[in-house]
Amino acid sequence: MNRLIFILPIVAVVFMQCAYGTPPQVHGVRDDDDDDGTYEIISGNCSIALAADIIFTDHVHKLLIPFVQRNATSSWHGDQKIYCLEVLNEDSDNSTRGTAFVKEGGVGHTFVTIEMHSKTSHGMEFDIMVYGK
Ligand SMILES: *[C@@H]1O[C@H](CO)[C@@H](O)[C@H](O)[C@H]1NC(C)=O
Ligand SMILES: *[C@@H]1O[C@H](CO)[C@@H](O)[C@H](O)[C@H]1NC(C)=O
Ligand SMILES: *[C@@H]1O[C@H](CO)[C@@H](O)[C@H](O)[C@H]1NC(C)=O
Repeated sequence: MNRLIFILPIVAVVFMQCAYGTPPQVHGVRDDDDDDGTYEIISGNCSIALAADIIFTDHVHKLLIPFVQRNATSSWHGDQKIYCLEVLNEDSDNSTRGTAFVKEGGVGHTFVTIEMHSKTSHGMEFDIMVYGK
């Protein structure tokens, strides 16, 4: 059992080097996690948002890859002006869940780009809803 615990990380490192070319950060506890974002985004007049005004929805789900930070973006552009933006985190555990931030546009604009980052070695899952009129 002890030997297995010792060997598994080595197998994982070799696998990662083959798959990604660059060695993962195993030693030194470097934290790549991006702190630009927040766990959830609820911005604009969401308290008066109507289901009929939903102009865009997206479900972003990325599975974990050991030592890797998963990233994703979701974009919408159209004619309506966004008055409420919701990016809800389906993971409620702060120690594992990812973060999101508005990269471009958003409330008051006719476009939005949301960027999402997982924590290193974790997946992420978000539900995006954009309301406009
Ligand atoms: C995700 O974004 C972070 C921060 O910009 C970057 O350091 C990392 O390499 C990205 N991960 C992947 C798999 O591209
Ligand atoms: C939110 O509602 C207030 C009051 O109705 C309005 O003045 C404001 O422009 C609205 N904001 C957005 C982003 O639609
Ligand atoms: C999780 O993070 C949010 C936002 O930073 C904070 O309000 C909340 O108290 C945290 N929850 C726990 C259990 O740490």
